Amino acid sequence: MDAHSPALPTPFSTLIRTASHEAHTEAENSSFMGDMLGGRLGVTAYRRYTEQLWFVYRALERCADTLAADPVAGPFIQPELTRTPELERDLAHLGGPAWRSEARPLPATEAYAARVAECAREWPAGYVAHHYTRYLGDLSGGQIIRGTAEKTWGFARKGDGVRFYVFEGIGNPAAFKREYRALLDALPVDDLEKQRVVDECKRAFALNTAVFRELGEEFGGDGRSPLSA
Ligand code: HEM
Repeated sequence: MDAHSPALPTPFSTLIRTASHEAHTEAENSSFMGDMLGGRLGVTAYRRYTEQLWFVYRALERCADTLAADPVAGPFIQPELTRTPELERDLAHLGGPAWRSEARPLPATEAYAARVAECAREWPAGYVAHHYTRYLGDLSGGQIIRGTAEKTWGFARKGDGVRFYVFEGIGNPAAFKREYRALLDALPVDDLEKQRVVDECKRAFALNTAVFRELGEEFGGDGRSPLSA
């Protein structure tokens, strides 16, 4: 670059990724995640975790039809990302036919889903922060969780129990993530609003960490609560 030309602005996808890096490490290092990825938890803990995801994804996806027409959030609404049906299949496998009546959101999950729903209703750019935090994570680290779950609890590879982590409609996740980052870079909002989206992304990570904390309280210690199978 010419020494006199102005520095190129940092692409928004880089900004949001860098800004949430610390929060990501914190979420990744939560004791519940560590116990789960270390194979120290029973399948009941995994079921309970999957139930929490179901409450969150219902909030994320319930509003998809309305948001599809929104100039800011609309481009992010892509049917191949939809996870609620996959979560429902996994939960039917994990909990049997009564799973739905037995599913309970933890207080942290309720708060998380409520914030997603609020953004979906009132602030499409804030919704994008939640969309990014979940779906890009599922396409990345989610794949590590799938491998562990298959090994630890004996689910069929990419089968019932781990369908949430399998994106049948996305043949090339790396290419999909590249295109997703291009959408972030083209977000039609000003710099101040972008900063607010970054802040909401940090909040989204913190909401996830709070869910892990409560799951850790239920299934912590030696990783085997009286409930774990
Ligand atoms: C133990 C759990 C986790 C592991 C092992 C993990 C691992 C990873 C890995 C390997 C990447 C790819 C980084 C890259 O492309 O260079 C990634 C990206 C990502 N993860 Fe996680 N992650 C975990 C938990 C989470 C959680 C709880 C969230 C939020 C709910 C999350 C959200 C994200 C996001 C949004 C990205 C995309 C970053 C970007 O490229 O912009 N991850 N994760």
